[in-house]
Amino acid sequence: MIPNSGIDLLQAKGYEVMVSPENRVLAKSELIDFLKKDQYDAVLCLLTDKIDADVLDAAGKQCKIFANYAVGFDNVDLKTAADRGVMITNTPGVLTDSVAEHAVALMLSVAHRIPESDRFTRAGKYHGWEPMLLLGHDMSHKVLGIVGLGRIGSRVAHIAAAGFGMKILYYDVKRAESFEQEFPVADNGAPQVEFRENPDMIFEQADVVSIHVPLLPTTRHMVDARKLGLMKKTAYLINTSRGPIVDEVALVEALKNGTPHGAALDVYENEPALAPGLADLENVVLTPHTASGTEETRQAMSVLAAQNIIEALEGRIPPNVVKI
Ligand code: 8YV
Repeated sequence: MIPNSGIDLLQAKGYEVMVSPENRVLAKSELIDFLKKDQYDAVLCLLTDKIDADVLDAAGKQCKIFANYAVGFDNVDLKTAADRGVMITNTPGVLTDSVAEHAVALMLSVAHRIPESDRFTRAGKYHGWEPMLLLGHDMSHKVLGIVGLGRIGSRVAHIAAAGFGMKILYYDVKRAESFEQEFPVADNGAPQVEFRENPDMIFEQADVVSIHVPLLPTTRHMVDARKLGLMKKTAYLINTSRGPIVDEVALVEALKNGTPHGAALDVYENEPALAPGLADLENVVLTPHTASGTEETRQAMSVLAAQNIIEALEGRIPPNVVKI
């Protein structure tokens, strides 16, 4: 189920909309059965739907577009879709603020030990103020490492720099000088933002590393035991991109050994399963892939996915076509 706004828009345009009756992740066979029930001109799919050759075929030859209800599209076989002439679209932009806010919330939550303190208080363990109780770490003026400077990574950098005076280090495949110029230079001439040409340098130098790269063959397990071993003992890892970018078993091991100091994750390598031992650790904060999960954003994603469909069915190129 998705918010109604997009469905209303499609119906207002006169399209008939069939909604899968199941309000849960569909198995591939269920998805295929549902698609085979009728001839569809367009399919609005979720990031949990694996769109491969079988699924594309099940939708039928007249289907022009699969509109993914997500900014990520690693669930779609783009090459096969292109071979069959099926357009693939995503929902960029509308979820940038929400996911960036969530990344910053995760950073503060793990550094200030908020969920751990909440568990402690609810358990009736708070027996009076103590100078050394549940000490966390300030984020103000620390170094934030951004791996992947897309819309969301850039937004996180701006919030952290403006809100907490954090110094920003970023890695991407290429340097973005115009992004750097968006930040003020300190009186002593020190830049607030610096590029690092090798992600290793981010892992070595940052107090918090926030991951914002898409899942690609080249980014799978980009954060492995070696990279985690480069991190400062006091550092935190934040992931709001895709789970398989982090070797989760290696992360559990690293956290048990004390480096990094903590992690906050919204996405998991084998979602919804968690790596053994992850949920037993106190120094992790875990959310269930809800970084874009605000009323405003999920409505906007619904409208944008519907607009992509309308454009395609009216013979225009939708604004958010994913190119191979
Ligand atoms: C997530 C997403 O909430 O759109 C996507 O591709 O996965 C988002 O909606 C977020 O990126 C995960 O933290």
